[in-house]
Amino acid sequence: MTINEMKGKLEEVLSSKRFKHSLGVMDTAASLAERHGEDREKAAIAGLLHDCAREIKGQAVFDLCEKYHINVDYITLAQPELLHGPIGAVVAARDYGVEDKDILSAIECHTTGRENMTLLDKIIFIADYIEPGRKFPGVDEVRELAYRDLDRSILVSLDNTIRYVMDKGVFIHPDTIFARNFIIKENMR
Ligand SMILES: [Fe+2]
Ligand SMILES: [Fe+2]
Repeated sequence: MTINEMKGKLEEVLSSKRFKHSLGVMDTAASLAERHGEDREKAAIAGLLHDCAREIKGQAVFDLCEKYHINVDYITLAQPELLHGPIGAVVAARDYGVEDKDILSAIECHTTGRENMTLLDKIIFIADYIEPGRKFPGVDEVRELAYRDLDRSILVSLDNTIRYVMDKGVFIHPDTIFARNFIIKENMR
């Protein structure tokens, strides 16, 4: 499937707002890839498709998890939207013909982060956070940081996410903690 065919198919399953977000992540990921020496095409595809399962709701989420052996625990049961990463990787392979393991990995972990994130995983994770449609206090600083110091920008976004989740009083997914410790550890050497 060409990237244009992927766009056409994606537009049918996402709201216009989320489709626009996906195009923003695609462009941001492609330019971050260029900056940090990652494959531009892979980054564009992963960015475009990262939310391809975002609008699957209700029981269908759990049915897909069962069918494709995606682990559901008490946290994802309480916050099923966290599952759109792993489900998205399955859907990207099944419905969009993506076979590249690096692309599927980046889609899979874009919501929580995880330990041992690859360069492409990191690019998609932060592109999702800073694409041009994102508006929050400090976004311009993180945008600039993502080009200058990718790991530091991810640390800022993870810290913000953890703070937000703590203030809300809900679960913190352990993969988010693993991602944060991993980034810190990687930069200690
Ligand atoms: Fe997402
Ligand atoms: Fe997203």
